[in-house]
Amino acid sequence: MNWDYFRTRVLLSPEVNNLNCGSFGPSMVRGHEFAAEQRLQLASRPMDFYLRLAPSLLAKARTELSAWINHNPTRLFFTNNVSTAINQVGRSLVGSGFRGVILTTDLEYGCMRWFWEVLANQFGAEIRTIKIPRMPEDSGEILDSFAKEMTEGVKILFFSHVISATGMVLPIEEICSLARVKGITTIVDGAHGPGQMALDLEKIGASAYCANLHKWLCSPTGGAFIAFHDELAERLEPVTISWGYSGYCLQPERKNPISQDDPDLFGSTARLRRLEFQGTQDVCPWLSVPSVLEEWREIGSDAIYARQREMSGFTRDLMTNRGLEVWTPANGKLSGAMTAWELPSEWNLEAVRNWLYYKHRIEVGLNRLPSGELLLRVSNHFFTQKSEVEQLSNVFRKSVPDLMSEVGDYL
Ligand SMILES: Cc1ncc(COP(=O)(O)O)c(C=O)c1O
Repeated sequence: MNWDYFRTRVLLSPEVNNLNCGSFGPSMVRGHEFAAEQRLQLASRPMDFYLRLAPSLLAKARTELSAWINHNPTRLFFTNNVSTAINQVGRSLVGSGFRGVILTTDLEYGCMRWFWEVLANQFGAEIRTIKIPRMPEDSGEILDSFAKEMTEGVKILFFSHVISATGMVLPIEEICSLARVKGITTIVDGAHGPGQMALDLEKIGASAYCANLHKWLCSPTGGAFIAFHDELAERLEPVTISWGYSGYCLQPERKNPISQDDPDLFGSTARLRRLEFQGTQDVCPWLSVPSVLEEWREIGSDAIYARQREMSGFTRDLMTNRGLEVWTPANGKLSGAMTAWELPSEWNLEAVRNWLYYKHRIEVGLNRLPSGELLLRVSNHFFTQKSEVEQLSNVFRKSVPDLMSEVGDYL
């Protein structure tokens, strides 16, 4: 594979060594250009765009994305980001009548943890936290930690498919199947799922899988989705009450669809439009999904996943040889395209970020765990170059005290 050539199909500034897809991913050229063309239509003929051009593109985007992740297209709708998606599902399921425990883990993305805490406070629900083993040898250890806490009273289980801070990949299918047996609703934070591994949502069987397209899939910013199971079909609520709320526009001349799941005039169904349509907004990132998937097919998704893993192995060896302690399991089933190492916990996160960017022009993921550890995370996508990783590893050639004084200059 000519990875240097494929790299040119992603919009990457030559001025920055971008080793972070986990916070925000760069966009594929093809998807970016498609979204830009659509934005021009939207800007110059808005009526025509929303009423006549966008509906068939939206239907196509939904169908193609659903096929890509093996999910029923009448049970999938777009959102602008995974934060909105998780808020929408959580607020639909936890309200004033909610009685029970919300189970989550100690490695969730910070603001998503806040969301569940706010919700629990508001409605008097209990939150319980699973302590995930830090460096498990196999998925059994993780499953045990989940199984122990899936006790009576637990109604909702919220967890990440891929842990943001450490890159650990959880055995999602086994966790969802265990929860299903116990009658627990599973809400998965799949922010890092699409584009880091092939997804078969039918097999995974989550009640709701919420995910971003603008991280690892490299879709234009503003693309995310909720794929839900039949069991939630009557339970999900829109974030915003808009024209989708009650069938069509409530205009008598517009015939109502025959069923909630029949195709409508807007590239949706009555059920999906109610959940998806948030008033006038920029839907171009959603419409560009087929062009992004076309790019993935052309490059070869299996080759991309294999390249991510090959690069992750290369990076793991190089950084670990610098004496840094790795925080991502070695087992290939429990790791993917992100690997993390621990930095001295007394280092200031913002100072490290500034030091790496202003002194070295390197972007990495940096996360402070609730338990205090500071982790540096490297993302390896198909476009990551060995020379970029080598540049980062060379920065860590110096001794910790020497680095400490350098970092201190960026406080
Ligand atoms: C695990 C996880 N969840 C949620 C988010 C939030 O993503 P967004 O800002 O696109 O909603 C992130 C972002 O990095 C994440 O890593």
